[in-house]
Amino acid sequence: MEPIQITNILYLISAIAFILGIKRLSHPKTARSGNLLSSLGMLIAVIATLTYPGKEFDFSLILTGVAIGAVIGLIFATRVQMTEMPQMVAIFNGLGGAASAFVASSEFLTTPDSPFVIVCLSVFIGSLTFTGSFVAFGKLQGFISGRAITFKGQQAINAIIALLSIALILAPGLFFESSIYSGYLNAFFVVIALALLLGIGLTIPIGGADMPVVISLLNSYSGIAAAATGFLISNNALIISGSLVGASGLILTNIMCKGMNRSLANVIFGAVGAETSGGSSDGKEVNIKSYSTTEAAMILDAAEKIIIVPGYGLAVAQAQHVAREVAETLESMGKKVLYAIHPVAGRMPGHMNVLLAEANVSYDVLKDLDEINPEFEDCDVALILGANDVVNPAARHDQSSPIYGMPILNVDKSRTVIINKRSMNPGFAGVQNELFGYDNSIMVFGDAKDMLNDLLKEVKEL
Ligand code: TAP
Repeated sequence: MEPIQITNILYLISAIAFILGIKRLSHPKTARSGNLLSSLGMLIAVIATLTYPGKEFDFSLILTGVAIGAVIGLIFATRVQMTEMPQMVAIFNGLGGAASAFVASSEFLTTPDSPFVIVCLSVFIGSLTFTGSFVAFGKLQGFISGRAITFKGQQAINAIIALLSIALILAPGLFFESSIYSGYLNAFFVVIALALLLGIGLTIPIGGADMPVVISLLNSYSGIAAAATGFLISNNALIISGSLVGASGLILTNIMCKGMNRSLANVIFGAVGAETSGGSSDGKEVNIKSYSTTEAAMILDAAEKIIIVPGYGLAVAQAQHVAREVAETLESMGKKVLYAIHPVAGRMPGHMNVLLAEANVSYDVLKDLDEINPEFEDCDVALILGANDVVNPAARHDQSSPIYGMPILNVDKSRTVIINKRSMNPGFAGVQNELFGYDNSIMVFGDAKDMLNDLLKEVKEL
């Protein structure tokens, strides 16, 4: 067998590992092994590339890069809080886009007759991903205002930058022979500058609440940039892995848009979050009833069917373990306990599933939106733990609300709704929640972990 055939077989094996790995990521039970399998696929691809027949590499430089990358990766993976995961993904996307742009640039600058359109495609998308991802990171981390930053003519300016870039990518091929290098070189640098600008221009008008969607979209872009670079340097592994990232990022973006009942165009161009939060429930006096954990425990004692609704606050408080203990105690008292999982609860796709899986909550009791909504009709208590936007009934009827149209968990249909959060502060979308003032709602204020620890004691004493 020719050495190049061995390389291609190794690339094929790595591609299969990526595909099976992604498949396994779709369920919390198999996600860890999926992650490992994909990492193994990447290791195989790296080895196949470094042993590519006829290529010579500066191994000391490569190993230095690997060591630096591994240390940074290890620090991020062990230090970053679960709730900061979107920021981490944003940074990694941005760096991935930049890496593709650098590889394509180096290929272009060392091989003047490289196909200019593909070089520019990689450099353009990679550079746009880089600045766009860092703006997304800044918004989520609070370095930049989370509000949608808009001004007159913004979309027109973005459109002009995009059209100008396309013209510059295509024009040199019309005017210069490929050997006339300087014409291409000038266009190349201007394309980079325009792409960096466009990444910022496209991301700043998007509100902080939509950042996870944007990050997923930018993830997809970074895959496309990698695939384009793969074509440029004829690397099959890069083409396959880039295409997989591109496709899966788009699918995830679509799932999130569906979860919020919004189109991708609305997320990107809708500037949701530009104004101070809207919604008829805003600014209105809401009559709330604040209860103690003792009173909440008594209500739970009388209940037969309880649905726990986890949200971002549960993740912040890291209260998943004590939430499971409360649920188990209630079950041991003969009550039926289910968990309602909203597709965009928390700050990243599958956030609540991962959180509860960490606390060993059985997958059988986790019910998704469509499955659980009819269950609220005959539910005695909906116990809301740090969730807010995903249970806001304004989404069903208030057309002025930024979350109007988002499918929500119909917790208000339950006989009693117990809501735990620390204050009357709004959730991620920045709107007040009219649910808190409903006749069947009661609030139990406090950090979710502290409240649940108290509640656990009370329930055990019943
Ligand atoms: P949010 O609406 O963000 O509400 C979370 C609530 O948790 C807050 O109101 C906060 O109120 C409370 N909280 C914070 N820390 C707490 C703690 N230590 N203990 C108890 N409560 C605490 O969360 P949600 O209902 O999960 O909705 C998710 C939001 O993110 C939606 O707007 C969704 O569209 C958006 N989003 C999510 C995704 C994905 S993929 N998950 C993607 C895009 C957008 P206090 O400060 O008063 O405690």
